[in-house]
This record gives sequence, C-alpha cells and structure tokens, in this order.
Amino acid sequence: MGEEIRGNNCSVCDSPTLREFVSFGRMPVVNAYPSQADLKKPEYTYNLSVGFCEDCEMVQLMEKVPYIKYIVPDETGRTHYAYVSSMSSFMQKHFVDFAHDVETRFLEPGSRVMEVGSNDGILLKGFSHRENVLGIEPSQNVAEIAQKQGIETLTEFFSRRLVKRLVDEKGKFRAVLSANVFLNILDIHDFMRGVNVALDDKGVFITEDPYLPRILENTAYDQMYDAHGRYHSLRSLDNLFEMYGMEIFDAQEQWVHGGSMRVYAARKGTYPKTSNFKKLAEKEEENGLHSLSTYNNFSKRVEQNKEKLVRLLTELKSEGKKIVGYAAAAKSVVVHNYCGIGTNFLDYVCDSTPEKQGKYMPGTKVPIVSPDVFHRDHNVDYALLGAWNHSEEILGKEKGFLSRGGKFIVHLPEPRIL
Ligand code: TMP
Ligand code: ZN
Repeated sequence: MGEEIRGNNCSVCDSPTLREFVSFGRMPVVNAYPSQADLKKPEYTYNLSVGFCEDCEMVQLMEKVPYIKYIVPDETGRTHYAYVSSMSSFMQKHFVDFAHDVETRFLEPGSRVMEVGSNDGILLKGFSHRENVLGIEPSQNVAEIAQKQGIETLTEFFSRRLVKRLVDEKGKFRAVLSANVFLNILDIHDFMRGVNVALDDKGVFITEDPYLPRILENTAYDQMYDAHGRYHSLRSLDNLFEMYGMEIFDAQEQWVHGGSMRVYAARKGTYPKTSNFKKLAEKEEENGLHSLSTYNNFSKRVEQNKEKLVRLLTELKSEGKKIVGYAAAAKSVVVHNYCGIGTNFLDYVCDSTPEKQGKYMPGTKVPIVSPDVFHRDHNVDYALLGAWNHSEEILGKEKGFLSRGGKFIVHLPEPRIL
C-alpha cells in the first residue's frame, strides 16, 4: 500500500525534533471518491498521524501523500480533482471580499496577481482587471471552469521553474495568493523559492488556511488529512518565511473553513507590522501553542470525542432511528473512518457536488447521493452534519427537514444533537 512520503525529520526545518502527538490509524485519501467500478479494487491508504516540531513549531503530517493519489487522471489523461470551490454562496462572497482587500491595499495600475491552486476561479474572478490575473491549477476539470469565464489559468503544478519562466516572459507579480493550498504544498522549499522569484519590490504573499488554534479549540481533528499537510500558527509560518528573508506583517482571522487565518508576508522591512498581527501572535503564546503538552491534551480530547459520537449514534440506532450523512466533505471522510461510521449507521450521505454524487465515501463505502434524494426521503430522523463549517447556510436551506422534526447532529466541539 505504501508510497507515502515519510521522513524522520521536520519537513520545514529538517531538525530531528518532530514529535507525533495524535494518530488516526490507516486512512483513505479524502478526495478520491470511489466509483462503483472502483469498489472492487484495493483502496490506497496511509497512516494518518500528526506531529509537532519542537524546533520550528510547525505541526504537520508524519506521512505525506503524493498528489497523484487525489489529483487523478481519467481515461483520457485529463487530471481531475473532486473539490469544486464555488459550491457555497457564502464562500463566493468571502472570495469577492478577499479580492477587494488585495486590490485596494496592494495593487497599482498594471500590477499582476497570481493565485496558486486557483480551482474554479472563485477568487480571481473578483479582481477588476482580469487581464492582470493568472491562475495556476493542475486539475483540469476545475481549471476549465475558470478558463470558460475568461480567467487565464495554467494547468500545471506551481514550481520555482515555472515561475522563472513566467517572470522571464512577462515580468514579476505584486501579489501571490493561495487559499487552502499552501498548507498542502509538498515541496515547501521549492514553493518559497518560487514565491521569492515571483514577487516584485513591494510584492506580497498572502495565504489563507485553517488556523491551528481554532483546530485545537474546537477539537476539529477532521481538519487533519492528506490534503492538509501542515497546520499553521503565526509563529511557525514566520519561522518558515524567515528562512527566505521574508516576514509576516499582517494577519486577519476569517470565519471560513471552521476558522482560518489570512496571513500577509513580504520581504523583511517592506511593510510595517500591524497591531492586529502582534496581538494575535501574543495570544498564541498565552494559549500554550509553543508547548508539546498542548498537543498531547488535544489528542486526549480527540479520543473522548470519538467515544461520545459513537455512543450517541449507537443509542439512536438502537431506538430504530434512520440516520444519514449530510455532506461528503473531506472532513466527513476523516470522522467516518476514524469513528467507524459506515453503513452500520448511515443509509447514505448527501452532497451538492455533482462530481461526488453516484460515488462512495472513501473507506466506508457509503453511497453519496444528491440532496434531492434527502429532500424526498421523509423517513430520515437524523443527519450527521459533516460540513459543520457551512452550518449556517445548510440549516438555512434545510428548513423543511427541521420543520418535520428532523434533527442535525454535529460532532464538535462536543458531539450533540442540534
Ligand atoms: P468543505 O467544508 O471542504 O468546503 O466541503 C463542503 C462539502 O459540503 C462539499 O462537498 C459540498 C457540500 N455541501 C453540501 O452538500 N450542501 C451545502 O449546502 C454546502 C454549503 C456544501
Ligand atoms: Zn521544524
């Protein structure tokens, strides 16, 4: 089964100070939803465990999964990624605001913007001057959605070499952006070199990813999976940037993806550090983010969370209740597999992403159906909400289910019926 990338040292600072603190056992890849035909084939699994580097403080996967396991070529060789960003209307608004923020704070007439992992163009389409934006997106199925909307998108992996070519052709960039991508770059050092080549004198690198303190506080262990290789604190990111002559000068918390941080970095001394960034960094210190014991405590809460969720579902099932899963999110895959929630508990999982419908949950093989099936099914008593980060939007649209007595279950911060 192997093939995972495992080193004994920290993938950022290379020190032999990486301490594993939580382990979820063998796990399938979250974004590789098997089709009916795939069910007969063996499924790739890896050992999902997470460690804390006592030197540079980066929290990271102990084993990293190669991209090819979830950016999968189809029969024609066209690369395919199951996650489509524009599935949520709240997220669309979020990315319009993101583009506006970059535009008003950093861009001058003619400034170029690059986004790494631009998916279906959800962020880049928010910029007023589309001729100055460029997406880098290795998955053709999602890149094509952006291209059709007039957003120039290269279907390649970001690398220092690629950036060098782009800069030689048309010059440097004022902003390099990434959203939920930086945390998963396998060769982080090549990436940082690429960013350095790309940026002009006042260039900014802005990345937005799930924020480690929110993961710890919510016991959101379901943020930990193959396509999320690192879990950032401001300190650990700053340590990484420092290796490339860069520093964080601003940070803004975001509510998306269960609590994210948008981090602004540039070459040292280019921009003054904001008071907001300093305040957030101090808070990390107060919350014990720099100490291994904080992570060991998280690990204990994860085990308790699993026990409580399984107990709740077992009770409901013994009362004869019908339970389904709501959202085939990556996070759901982690929870279902770690807690053993398969067809023993769930009749199906519904999800609004057409790419996922008709397929199966990785590992547990529960069928994925469209929300229409769920809407027509009036026998469902409980829906286990995997996409808890979209709960406001989902509860708003499932008023019919709620009004006929249906209830949602969420598993964090504590498993409970909503
Ligand atoms: P995410 O938390 O990684 O963004 O994944 C959310 C998943 O939830 C994605 O597969 C789409 C699905 N979803 C629904 O099924 N219904 C919804 O209303 C929303 C917002 C998302
Ligand atoms: Zn390290």
